[in-house]
Amino acid sequence: MKAQLIHTVAELEGFDLAALSNCREPRRVLMCTPEHFDVVDVKNPFMEGNVGRVDKERAVTEWEALRRTYEAAGHEVLTIRGAEGLEDMVFAANQVLPGLGADGQPYVLLSRMRHPSRRREVPIYREWFERRGYKVFELTSEAGYFEGQGDAIWHPGKQLLWGGHGPRTTLRAYEEVSRILCVPVITLALPHPNFYHLDTCFCVLTSDAALYFPGAFDAEGRALLAHMFHHLIEVSEGESTRWLACNAHALDGRTVIIQRGACETVAHLRAHGFHVIEVDTDEFLKSGGSVFCMKMMIY
Ligand code: ARG
Repeated sequence: MKAQLIHTVAELEGFDLAALSNCREPRRVLMCTPEHFDVVDVKNPFMEGNVGRVDKERAVTEWEALRRTYEAAGHEVLTIRGAEGLEDMVFAANQVLPGLGADGQPYVLLSRMRHPSRRREVPIYREWFERRGYKVFELTSEAGYFEGQGDAIWHPGKQLLWGGHGPRTTLRAYEEVSRILCVPVITLALPHPNFYHLDTCFCVLTSDAALYFPGAFDAEGRALLAHMFHHLIEVSEGESTRWLACNAHALDGRTVIIQRGACETVAHLRAHGFHVIEVDTDEFLKSGGSVFCMKMMIY
């Protein structure tokens, strides 16, 4: 595996996905308990008008149902206890990026969160992984910001990362990410203010299929995606915004868990042969998050 940054379709010249090392899919799910979840400020446009409007009981019920959905689908769910005063800690996709080294050893790369209030989540996750023997990598301050699995998404089955940058993660972070993990990173600019993490507008389904909202990307980003996925399923701006439909999660290349209500997206997924499970994450939508960011897939 080698470090490499790809920003343009021209740079994909000679790039051979099949030649990259394979990587098994993570099977275990890490979730953070929701008792301290709240919306106390506005970190992204979805949070506007929602300060103090979370129904806490409902949030716990929705979180429990999501946990049961993963368990019913045959995944082991591990939990980390949410800490008081860390209202966004429940979004377990952001604090680290988990991966598998060339030696087969699982590691985590720690995030450098943009918002000071979220920086305090990272040491708690770090300790959780260290206690379980994971190797821990860190970025330097030169990297700027990096928000874990929210912006850095593994291409299914391959040692290849898709790296969103703009509102949260800085482009220069990927130079270090690529070098430290020895993997290529295809970078995608996120120019639309609503789609502040890559997982709000892009969802890998299989090695050859993905969901995306085209309006969240620039022309180069759309071209990179079109080059790498033969089946790109377009999600409308309405369903991307109202239901965070791209913040879905494809489990095993067959089953997709998605917020309830995104009828067109669900129909497209079914037409492509996916089994769709709709869940309620309404309370978390008030904070700009849904299925994908409420968990972290770990090795
Ligand atoms: N309120 C959280 C924030 O703005 C939501 C994070 C959602 N996570 C994600 N990966 N999209 O940071």
